[in-house]
Amino acid sequence: MWLVLTSLLALSSGALSLDKLNMCMDAKHHKVDPGPEGQLYYQCAPWRENACCTANTSTEAHNDNSYLYNFNWNHCGTLSPQCKRHFIQDTCFYECSPHLGPWIQPVEQSWRKERILDVPLCQEDCHSWWEDCKHEYTCKTNWHKGWDWSSGINKCPAGSKCRKWTQVYPTPKSMCEQIWSNSYLYTTHSKTSGRCMQLWFDGPNPNRKVAAYYFNSAQQYQSFALTALLLPAFASFSVMMY
Ligand SMILES: *[C@@H]1O[C@H](CO)[C@@H](O)[C@H](O)[C@H]1NC(C)=O
Repeated sequence: MWLVLTSLLALSSGALSLDKLNMCMDAKHHKVDPGPEGQLYYQCAPWRENACCTANTSTEAHNDNSYLYNFNWNHCGTLSPQCKRHFIQDTCFYECSPHLGPWIQPVEQSWRKERILDVPLCQEDCHSWWEDCKHEYTCKTNWHKGWDWSSGINKCPAGSKCRKWTQVYPTPKSMCEQIWSNSYLYTTHSKTSGRCMQLWFDGPNPNRKVAAYYFNSAQQYQSFALTALLLPAFASFSVMMY
């Protein structure tokens, strides 16, 4: 009985993990399954071996008010190029990454069925993003919601004011976590740790290994919890049999 149960568990978790470590979320522009994309544009090029974004999405990710989300980065004056490149990279990561499985959650939104929650970002990526943007202005803490969309692109809502970046986001952590409603989790892990996801990388995608690490530790915890739950049931069952 134990043998059947444990092999069933192992089988189902094995099949699940394959999907979870190489998959695309069900969102507005993602492909159904990840795969090679030879023509990914500029900052999205690191994902070309295996991507959830199309070439079109990768090009659009570099445009202001692109057809992807009509999103206006320049809602409080034009963002400097050194700041904007981080938002482009963030868009590439979100649209192209096939290794976000452990952090994908269902969500009830008109424009997507799934989102990411608490993806652990490498400290360097969060810090350089904030450093390069800290002289900009914005009127909102959470850029996911609360805009005035009446003109078709997002404008600062009535009653809000453009404030210094550092007043809205006093720290890199506050920016990385709050800007996209906790899609990202701030960590103090460095890029070499294998414990955090990298927005910026060259060469083979380092994030698959990181996703596997977090997926496996979550699974170990799950099977531990399941065993703890089932063991007393089996014990009492065997007692009854005798
Ligand atoms: C991407 O596709 C959209 C919709 O089909 C189109 O409007 C847009 O021009 C395309 N962009 C590029 C860069 O090809």
